[in-house]
Order: sequence, then structure tokens, then C-alpha cells
Amino acid sequence: MDQDNKYFNRYKNFNLIVGFSSAEAIQSLQSFEIRNSDIILATYPKSGTIWTQQIIISICELDGDLTEYPNNMEKMPWLEWQEKREQNSGRPLPRLFTTHLRPDLLPQAVKDKKAKIIYVMRNPKDNIVSYYHFCKIASLLETPKSFGHFLEDYLMGNVASSSWFDHIRAWHSVRNQYSILYLTYEDMIVDLNTAVTKICTFLGKNLSEADIEKVVEKSTFKNMKEDPKANYQFQPESLLKGDFMRKGQIGDWKNYFTVAQSERVDQLLQERLGDLSLKFIWE
Ligand code: PPS
Repeated sequence: MDQDNKYFNRYKNFNLIVGFSSAEAIQSLQSFEIRNSDIILATYPKSGTIWTQQIIISICELDGDLTEYPNNMEKMPWLEWQEKREQNSGRPLPRLFTTHLRPDLLPQAVKDKKAKIIYVMRNPKDNIVSYYHFCKIASLLETPKSFGHFLEDYLMGNVASSSWFDHIRAWHSVRNQYSILYLTYEDMIVDLNTAVTKICTFLGKNLSEADIEKVVEKSTFKNMKEDPKANYQFQPESLLKGDFMRKGQIGDWKNYFTVAQSERVDQLLQERLGDLSLKFIWE
């Protein structure tokens, strides 16, 4: 049975952050109207969400969306955050949304290929390190006792959004059913221009090379760190007591993992997702 605790509202074997989402919010999401023009960014936490938000928003702006917005979170609200999703439901098209949910928790209309979905994943070792640091600064999450403790919780799925392995598998299993583009954080680091071009093509936005370069510029780590709409410093200190834009690199995991911890993740990756033939860049 799903069991709530201090940090998580549990719904269908999925951990929702208390104060951010709830079983009721997901139940009401099932009747939320999805439109053909909706664009939904889906990620497991700490996989490149706010980065891809910045890219999608910049593409839409250069494509003529001139609607004013206070910050990227308001422009591209989380579907699981009922209040924000509803506040933004009537905005000009295309509407942009973000989600950390598994696909089975989204409304049926998404499954009927109504919305366009971009799914971004990140190699699990860097994902773990990023998540570990985030838990230290996010007030709604439990502060880890140590990296080792956090690693155990993560591998057990005892974190917000539950198991990374389940998330990746679930989003892969819908690849022929949904209108979906898969990207990796690492591919974006290696060649941002190509990633932006892929997103434009998928969204049917015909931007010039010069405009694509503008999107790339707006979305570099350095520029986003200074962009008050994009860097999430607009979050009150009561919620976030540190820098969201931390390092933005591939391979930071080497500074945290012991050899044994690293081999354990390799083994689990093989056992749990080996059949998907995923290819991650690790350094
Ligand atoms: S969240 O909380 O789920 O929305 O977090 P998410 O945005 O998915 O992940 C945060 C990590 O993404 C890094 N980030 C970037 N990396 C490279 N380039 C750019 N422009 C960029 N923007 C955000 C951010 O620094 C977090 O990674 P770490 O490794 O912690 O630095």
C-alpha cells in the first residue's frame, strides 16, 4: 500500500514532494485538458530540466511567442503542481509544461499523441551527485546524512520521483505510443547546437542558423547562471538555500563515488536496464 511520510505523498508507487504535489493533484490532472499544441518537458529530477526549459522557451520566443512571464517556472509550470498548472491553463498557445511524473500518471490525451513530449535523461552517476547536492539545499527534501546514505536511498527509489531505473524504463516503453523526442544531458553538453536544432525540428519550428545560435547562447551554463528568469534564484530562500546552477558538468561523480559504489551502479544499470542498450557518456 502507498504510505505517505513527512517528505513524500505516495501515489501509485511514486513519491510526490509534500508541499508541491499530492495524490489529489495527480487525480485531478487526469481530467486536465491537453491540447494538440502543448509541449511537455519530462525528466527525472536533476537531469537537465531547467536547462531544457530555457531552450524550449527561447525557441518559442524567437518563433514569435512574445507573452510576458515572470520566470521560466511560471512560463513552463510543473503539471503535478496543481495550482500553477491551473493558473497557466488558459495562456496563449503553445502552452509549455514540465513534469517529473512517470508516463502512466499523465492524462490519457498525452498517450493519444496530442502533446509533443521531450524527455531528457542524464547518466545516473552524475544524476545522483546532482540530486545529493540538491537535497542539501532544498527545504522540502530530507537532508542526506552522507553521500553513501543518499546513494542507498536513490538506488532503493526512496527519493522524490522514486526510482530512476523505473522512470527511464517507463518513459522508454512509451516511445512508439507518444510523440516524443529523447535527449541526453551529455549530448547537450557535447554539442548544444545540435541538441537545439533537434528540438526545433521536433517542435516544427523553423529557426535560422543565427536564431539557433541565439538560443545556444541564452542556454549556456554561464549565461543561465546570470539570467534571473532561468537560474531559479527567484525561489524564496525558505525553499532553496543554495545555488541551483551548481557545476553543470559531466563526470563530477568521480569526485564522490568509491570504486565499489561505481561498480554497484554499473551492475544495477546492467541488471535493470541492460536490455534497453542505453548509451551514456560518463566523462
Ligand atoms: S530539477 O530540480 O529537477 O529541475 O533539476 P534539473 O534542472 O533537472 O537539473 C539541475 C542540473 O542541471 C544543471 N544545469 C546545467 N548544466 C549545463 N548547462 C546548463 N545550461 C545547465 N542548467 C542547469 C545544474 O547545474 C544541475 O546539475 P549539477 O550537476 O548539480 O550542476
